[in-house]
Amino acid sequence: MSTVSRRALLGGAGALAFGAVAGCSSGGDGATATAGGTTGADPASAASQHLPFHGPHQAGVTAQHQPQSLMAAFDVVGADRDELRATFQTLTEESARLMGGEPYPERDPSYPPLHTGHVGNPAPPADLSIVVSVGASLFDDRFGLADRRPIELRQMPFLANDRLDPARSHGDLLVTIASTSQDMNLFALRQLMRATRSTLTLHWMLDGFTRRTEAEPGGAGVRNLMGFVDGTVNPDVTATTELDELVWVGAGDGEPAWAVGGTYQVVRTIRMRVEFWDRVRLSEQEALIGRRKSDGAPLDGARELDEPDFAADPDGDVTPLSAHIRLANPRTPEVAGQRILRRGFSYSRGFDGAGQLDQGLQFVSYQRSIDRQFMPIIERLDGEPLEEYLLPEGGGFFFVLPGVADEGRSFGDGLFS
Ligand code: HEM
Repeated sequence: MSTVSRRALLGGAGALAFGAVAGCSSGGDGATATAGGTTGADPASAASQHLPFHGPHQAGVTAQHQPQSLMAAFDVVGADRDELRATFQTLTEESARLMGGEPYPERDPSYPPLHTGHVGNPAPPADLSIVVSVGASLFDDRFGLADRRPIELRQMPFLANDRLDPARSHGDLLVTIASTSQDMNLFALRQLMRATRSTLTLHWMLDGFTRRTEAEPGGAGVRNLMGFVDGTVNPDVTATTELDELVWVGAGDGEPAWAVGGTYQVVRTIRMRVEFWDRVRLSEQEALIGRRKSDGAPLDGARELDEPDFAADPDGDVTPLSAHIRLANPRTPEVAGQRILRRGFSYSRGFDGAGQLDQGLQFVSYQRSIDRQFMPIIERLDGEPLEEYLLPEGGGFFFVLPGVADEGRSFGDGLFS
């Protein structure tokens, strides 16, 4: 098991929460089988805790999926490498304090308080995790880091069906925050921004939710805004060997030494044409996904965790050859290693000028290699019939920094050594 304790992974509560909603690419983490994610916004819930900050990997990558998530991408406006290094140190200190729930000192009232005050001081345990990642642009000529770039890190190109909006894509640095409540996430964001205001400016931001739903033991327990169970097929986040194989960059990967213990993070802001989708007949929806809507079972199976047998259905009579799960994972020997950890969340941003709801999936995946794991999957999905209901509008490729091993270390310190 990684540095995250099993209790952290189980998220505490134990009882299953009911309801629907939430993001693809989530649960399915084995450990969530009995996990009752704390669906309410009660940060003081007795089941919540402080997640460990120090360790070989950043805890938020594999921690239990939280009900509320927030991503904020920043541009670095610091003048030079020293300022960048100092920014990483500040991010380290502030993240350690926030995840550890350390109180902020109260100051002389003639000064502004050191904390926002909206969640109390100290902030209550809320399973808060903060994950810091970097984008390819950080390795341009500004900070002299070009020769330190993780080898597969590049600006996310236009992929399947994309209409990427530059104002909602890429960034030098990405912070992924998750916890039991939106106000905790905003607290963490504001404290981080306050501490780094001279060197980081916001580039884009998106928040969203992942509500747990009834699931069979071992099932995903999460639905996306298309109403389908999502996250069924995902690596087991309690299995260290599986994570070493699929998620964490290893010493023999040909990556810069500082990157070992990190992971590639793919983010895709995928708007769903929900009004259109809601008028599609159920059998067609199920054919597009390749699973039953009611319980997430594959079309040739009886239960969510049943393995589809595509070999027995070569012409796609039961599961169309163009179904999302069949394209994503045709279950042939050649694709066996192309597995990714999907940890997305749903979002809602009101409605657009045409009166259409602006909702979708913040697809997030973690993998040891973009080129060997993520790219072959997205290439197979390019042109899938489901695309008609989707519009990828933002996101980017990022690299999650290795964990901060102990108090003497800081995020990305290996980058500067
Ligand atoms: C809004 C967009 C998307 C929706 C609504 C969606 C929905 C789903 C659903 C319902 C499942 C089946 C349950 C499960 O195993 O999780 C699934 C599986 C999967 N999706 Fe997506 N997905 C989306 C985007 C993507 C993207 C961009 C990728 C890119 C890599 C992807 C990769 C996968 C993979 C690898 C699986 C597991 C397939 C399997 O092994 O059976 N999905 N998705």
